[in-house]
Amino acid sequence: MASLSKTSQWQALSAHRDEISAVHMRDLFDREPERFKNFSLELDGLLFDYSKNPVTGQTLSLLVDLARTAGLEGWRERMFAGEAINTTENRAALHPALRNRSGKPFTVAGKDVMSEINRELDNIRAFTVSVRSGIWKGANGQPICDIVNIGIGGSDLGPGMACQALAHYGKAGLDCHFVSNVDGAHLDGVLARLNPQTTLFIIASKTFTTHETMLNANSARDWIVTSLGEDAVEKHFVAVSTNREKVAEFGISASNIFGFWDWVGGRYSIWSAIGLSLATYIGMDKFEDFLAGAEAMDNHFIQAPLERNMPVMLGLIGIWNNNFLGASSLAILPYSQALARFPAYLQQLEMESNGKAVARDGTALDGHCVPTLFGEPGTNGQHAFMQAIHQAERLIPVDFIVVAEAHENVLTPHQHFQHQQVLVANAFAQSEALMRGKTAREVRSELEAQGLCGSELEKLLPHKVFPGNRPSNTILLERLEPRTLGMLIALYEHKTFVQGIIWGINSFDQWGVELGKHLAAEILPELSSDAASHNHNSSTNALIERFKAYHRDNSSHRT
Ligand code: F6P
Repeated sequence: MASLSKTSQWQALSAHRDEISAVHMRDLFDREPERFKNFSLELDGLLFDYSKNPVTGQTLSLLVDLARTAGLEGWRERMFAGEAINTTENRAALHPALRNRSGKPFTVAGKDVMSEINRELDNIRAFTVSVRSGIWKGANGQPICDIVNIGIGGSDLGPGMACQALAHYGKAGLDCHFVSNVDGAHLDGVLARLNPQTTLFIIASKTFTTHETMLNANSARDWIVTSLGEDAVEKHFVAVSTNREKVAEFGISASNIFGFWDWVGGRYSIWSAIGLSLATYIGMDKFEDFLAGAEAMDNHFIQAPLERNMPVMLGLIGIWNNNFLGASSLAILPYSQALARFPAYLQQLEMESNGKAVARDGTALDGHCVPTLFGEPGTNGQHAFMQAIHQAERLIPVDFIVVAEAHENVLTPHQHFQHQQVLVANAFAQSEALMRGKTAREVRSELEAQGLCGSELEKLLPHKVFPGNRPSNTILLERLEPRTLGMLIALYEHKTFVQGIIWGINSFDQWGVELGKHLAAEILPELSSDAASHNHNSSTNALIERFKAYHRDNSSHRT
């Protein structure tokens, strides 16, 4: 966005915002009976309704002009052509190649990468069949019942979120667990429930150097070796990484390594072997459906005109709410317990991709970019933070993600339908309430009808007014299944790309995570050193000393 805000398209949007700011969304709906039809898009069981945003047709066409001015179409071509659009690391960002099932070539630096991708998919398929059928046996000859994925960030959030979302498709008798946190309580809590003889670890790390993952992996390895012996490692550990050397150093044999490539960013890697836990859990055919869903979204993103293009519209609506209406956060509210981890997944996708201070050319950005994402499944959020979204001064746009059909398990179909109706009624009610609000006049007549009058009524009235005119999108999935989940994730991936292009950001690096990693490596030896810490500020030095003092006084429990 370094200079985009100076363009005539940006200025036109600012002027337009001033012109329409007094118009309430209620009036927009009243004036335009076809508003839903005009401001919604549909693709294979996924409906995207963006009509409950304070926009007019003119707003959207000005936003599309802005996208064109930012060169969105050219950048989209460059991404799909495998150009090194991640300029600070000189890498392509070619995750769409991972879900290309059409047979068309995808190239990086002039080389078609599809044969390598397909070979890796074959390896994944063979592994999933072997584990699921019980051919793969643990060291003592027992089949695998529990898979533990050890990874963090992109090597955890995607498969973890998706395994929970698609649990209905998971193989009975096979459980997937995800350990990411270096807090020993995470690994400990998972291992406490497992039998080493029937547990298989997937160590997922693009770099195979991430400290948290390596420590968790080593502790898991000790757990296996202690109970089954050193030779058991081969039967109980596989790795997913681009760093074969480091995996070999860890002691995992070459035949147990699933690879991917440096042109796959961590937060875009669920489509690669990083999805191994998911593929094993739901089976390879279902994993292929998942890839096909994402491919359908890729094709839509490439082919649909910008004005009827879902990721483009989702991105542009976000730009409008952020940059022109001043929102600085975004609530992701899946009305689906199965999608409980989707907000966390999107936090990494959007905030690690676009949470930057400088544009691609290194110049400072002249406005705020990525919003703060947060969220919880509905209806829980309604009893926690929705109050602020309805009435607090600051604008907090919402993405509602709603699933029409529930999966049945223990409850009867009738019970499920009952629950689903209540759930969905709440989702639709929230978006309507945010849009309409409740005027002082409506509150007054409601209170009068309840028999209130005079000062009692006047005192209560302002508390019960809802301003409304609060933006929300609704994404309605017919069913939560591998294909629609693939579409949903790809929709947000491309939305993130669209916004990055408009803000002028390289969405595919993450230098902002380095300083903390570096300092942690510096502080670590200080925590066990006898010498007092003087290397930091007074706060950090004092905290280090307090930690050491605590452990000096309580050292007996470690021996
Ligand atoms: O948080 C920084 C990061 O590099 C993420 O981008 C990545 O998903 C995560 O760490 C894990 O990295 P790796 O897969 O290399 O262990």
